[in-house]
Amino acid sequence: MATEAEEIRGIGHRVRRKEDDRLIRGKGTFIDDVKLPGMLHMAILRSPFAHAKINGIDTSKASALPGVIAVVTGELMAQHNLAWMPTMSYDTQAVLATDKVRFQGQEVAAVIAEDPYVAKDALELIEVDYEALEAVVTPQRALESDAPVIRTDKEGVTSNHIYDWESGDKEATDAAFAAADVVVSLDTFYPRSHPAPIETCGCIADLNPATGQATIYMTSQAPHAIRTVFALVAGLPEENIRIISPDLGGGFGNKVPVYPGYVVATAASLLLGHPVKWIEDRSENLISTGFARDFHMHGEMALSKDGQMKGLRVSLLADEGAFHADAQPSKFKVGLFHIVSGSYDLPAAHVSATGAYTNKAPGGVAYRCSFRVTEASYLIERLVQNAAGEIGMDPAELRRKNFIRKDQFPYKSVTGFEYDSGDYHGAMDLALQTVKYDELRKEQAEARKQGRLLGIGLASFTEVVGAGPAHDFDILGLKMNDGAELRIHPTGKAILKISSKTQGQGHETTFAQIVAEELGIQPEDIKVMHGDTDNTPYGLGTYASRSTPTVGAATALVARKLREKGKQLAAHLLEAAVEDIEYEKGKFFVRGAPENAKTIQDVAFAAYTNFPEDLEPGLEGVTYYNPPNLTYPFGTYAVVVEVDADTGEWTVDRMVAVDDCGVRINPMIVEGQIHGGLAEGFAIAAMQQITFDEDGNCIGSNFSDYLLPTAVETPKFELGATVTPSPHHPIGAKGVGESATVGSPAAFVNAVIDAVWHLGVRNIDMPLTSGKVWEAIQQAKGAGG
Ligand code: CDP
Repeated sequence: MATEAEEIRGIGHRVRRKEDDRLIRGKGTFIDDVKLPGMLHMAILRSPFAHAKINGIDTSKASALPGVIAVVTGELMAQHNLAWMPTMSYDTQAVLATDKVRFQGQEVAAVIAEDPYVAKDALELIEVDYEALEAVVTPQRALESDAPVIRTDKEGVTSNHIYDWESGDKEATDAAFAAADVVVSLDTFYPRSHPAPIETCGCIADLNPATGQATIYMTSQAPHAIRTVFALVAGLPEENIRIISPDLGGGFGNKVPVYPGYVVATAASLLLGHPVKWIEDRSENLISTGFARDFHMHGEMALSKDGQMKGLRVSLLADEGAFHADAQPSKFKVGLFHIVSGSYDLPAAHVSATGAYTNKAPGGVAYRCSFRVTEASYLIERLVQNAAGEIGMDPAELRRKNFIRKDQFPYKSVTGFEYDSGDYHGAMDLALQTVKYDELRKEQAEARKQGRLLGIGLASFTEVVGAGPAHDFDILGLKMNDGAELRIHPTGKAILKISSKTQGQGHETTFAQIVAEELGIQPEDIKVMHGDTDNTPYGLGTYASRSTPTVGAATALVARKLREKGKQLAAHLLEAAVEDIEYEKGKFFVRGAPENAKTIQDVAFAAYTNFPEDLEPGLEGVTYYNPPNLTYPFGTYAVVVEVDADTGEWTVDRMVAVDDCGVRINPMIVEGQIHGGLAEGFAIAAMQQITFDEDGNCIGSNFSDYLLPTAVETPKFELGATVTPSPHHPIGAKGVGESATVGSPAAFVNAVIDAVWHLGVRNIDMPLTSGKVWEAIQQAKGAGG
């Protein structure tokens, strides 16, 4: 008698992360673990000035230091036409400075030596003759007519203005505002922040002069796109470039761009005929690689006096740093910020944006968010909070009244997105029930009587992930589509090769679960490979929660393709017509006779041992996926805080997060993603920001100045879930990796504002340090609030 089959641990199972076994035993391979024979080491000299002319560079002393092999300057790079490189936003960026330096920490020269310490020592022997120039540290100053021009390298450029961009209907919005009973406005700054992955960036470039093969180990979230960019920029034949992205110690958007260090190491390896390794230190990572946010935002909301939203008007000024290098789809100048109407059925909206150069590091990366959606979500949720306060309505009620209703999906947003699905009322109801909202409001009223400052903050967000459909989404012309290749071996075990690159999100587990669901092979029998361009299908990389909506879909579809072939093999084995073969959970059988089934393992074996004459042998395939739409995860977060009026210190009593990312492939991994995102949201709300002094010196170049919360400061999170499947995704999943960072900062800030609103405080810019909260309270009291 057949034993009862083991349950297939496909979609919905809390499968423990397959990758953790090697990672927690110290058996992972990170970039600094890779050591190649004859390998040299590179260190980079960086500018101490934010803005300065370079009159000359003397490398003679550094070159003479024993152990130094070469010193590379911008001049040498220029001889190979590599002193500048393209950015992801169609701008140019200096690889090594030639004319002047434009931010503190900019790459000026590089030393290649036999050991990394000699390379670092030699940096101190390079003499650079700088002539300091006025540093431009705010975008407001950058746009003044007498501000020094930063990009003097660009012909015809006479100001620091980069772009203007707009979305929505200006006339309709103006009309809505003209007719409104109430207009609420808010000026707020989403500060510059940095993803700060625990592993910094680095590479080992290994160019073989005999074969012309370029193997580059690189901390990259997007190895395939990097390969193509290297082929185009360096003129190397693409088939000879292999980018290997080994285990990554986090990425969070920081490991998407091409950094000058990668280019210099590659050029050095080409010139010297040796592998060249470059590993950033912490300060280099924080001051010179991809920043995030840095948006100065003005928002206005028009409402009727009973709280019906009528219009939204937003203008923003983006601080892009010295080179416009935003890592985002080409078509959208400020990413997907125009989703700023959020979860609300707004009849009119207009968004305008201006970008400016400043003397700061470039970046604009999607730091644990879809492109600029974090800023958008923050602005609208802060505005809603203030609108509720102004018209004297409960903020939950105001949201409920204006949410897009479940029956309105698919919903065409006022700025042109087509939201695929949603149940905003459902997610908010669950969050409110869990936190016991009504009781809390009563408790708050009591607390106020005793002089205690209790605050309840809500944020309901709509994320937009899964970039994206080829008609709208490309980066440097490369369409944002992704692939999955599946090979099933004769013994029924499989290898899945994916175009995404996991940085800790658990792709080796969840993508195996998708195959398990579709084909009935257990996840532990499916090896998932990624991060090696010679051995995985092409794709645009992992960031902005795009992996599940794109690669997850490709994985399901390639598995289905093999299932169809499996039916042909099963028909042969069962001596039946293929039209009569049915499939269920890893078993193929003739309709009506499930007891006589062939397993996926029988079918796989037959693909190599016993197949029909007219059928191609083997069981493998590849699928590329061009998504028909983006996916729209959503949720409501509720935070309860208590503010100390005497010190401005605030503590989080409760944090309830209800997320809806459609069908959850692995609920445990989803919860882990949400926990991480909430911690990052809390960090931004409470302590994390990169600042600059008036000379453009970066304050925040180490973890004593750039504060990350530890387990001690991070609040406890209570999670809840609703499930609204994405109708167009093959398994109904939406992304989740970024949602919590997008949704939560406003909830924390709204809670603090809610605690002190009655004192007259209307806004405090993040991060909400106790000093700032205290000052805001004092100011409000002073103003008679
Ligand atoms: O692109 P990235 O991997 O950062 O983000 P994601 O697509 O949101 O996925 C993050 C992790 O959560 C992956 O391991 C996903 O497979 C998993 N996930 C899930 O299990 N169910 C979902 N509905 C969404 C994501």
